[in-house]
Amino acid sequence: MTASRKLIAGNWKMNGLSADAKERVAALVSFVAQKPDNSFDMVICPPATLIRDVSSGLQGSHITCGGQDCHAEASGAFTGNISAPMLKDMGCTHVILGHSERRQYHAETDEQVSAKAKAAHAAGLIAIVCVGETDEQRTAGQQDAIVTKQLQNSLPDGCTAENTVVAYEPVWAIGTGKTASSDDIRNMHAVIRRVVSEKIKDGDKLRLLYGGSVKGANAAEILHIDHVDGVLVGGASLKADEFGAIAAAA
Ligand code: PGA
Repeated sequence: MTASRKLIAGNWKMNGLSADAKERVAALVSFVAQKPDNSFDMVICPPATLIRDVSSGLQGSHITCGGQDCHAEASGAFTGNISAPMLKDMGCTHVILGHSERRQYHAETDEQVSAKAKAAHAAGLIAIVCVGETDEQRTAGQQDAIVTKQLQNSLPDGCTAENTVVAYEPVWAIGTGKTASSDDIRNMHAVIRRVVSEKIKDGDKLRLLYGGSVKGANAAEILHIDHVDGVLVGGASLKADEFGAIAAAA
């Protein structure tokens, strides 16, 4: 995988039951099969309850499956949690970590995200580490400093372009229909590229995704911005045709 192939990642969040998941996956697999020379990689991150169904539906396609979170420990007395080796065991290739909904509703800190990313790497998973500023932080002009600090503290030693992806998701753009402007994305991705290149040996090759109200209609513009190597899609990934339209723009 190189950064020249875009990564189209879908985050289903806490949505879906097995029947609609199977239907959505079948539609995506047939969409991708019609694009044999496509220029994108695709990963779907369903709720944990659907990982088995999704990974078995994806077999034979080049689409892979990911988790939405993992625990920093491989096993133990952590009721309700799922570990990185468990995700790997179910066929996952990726795991989303430090999503703003985890940071907000579960009070996840950068340090916890870093420990989880370390666990993901140890299990052989690619960590999709999310960063992004809130509306208030942007209004105060603090976005570069906030995202820089998140990156410095959330990316553990041992990150490489092979085992880590960074997703820039401004909190105010998630699920709001308010996409960041192309200039905002370009500027922030340049900051992120600089920070990851300083911190990680092959950070110049590490994939940087944008996320926040991405849909078929704005995907082409976003995917052509410098240092945008893919997108992390929430709401629009729940509709196979819309998600297919995003991938088609890659
Ligand atoms: P959205 O969510 O596409 O619905 O804005 C993105 C995300 O939370 O990853």
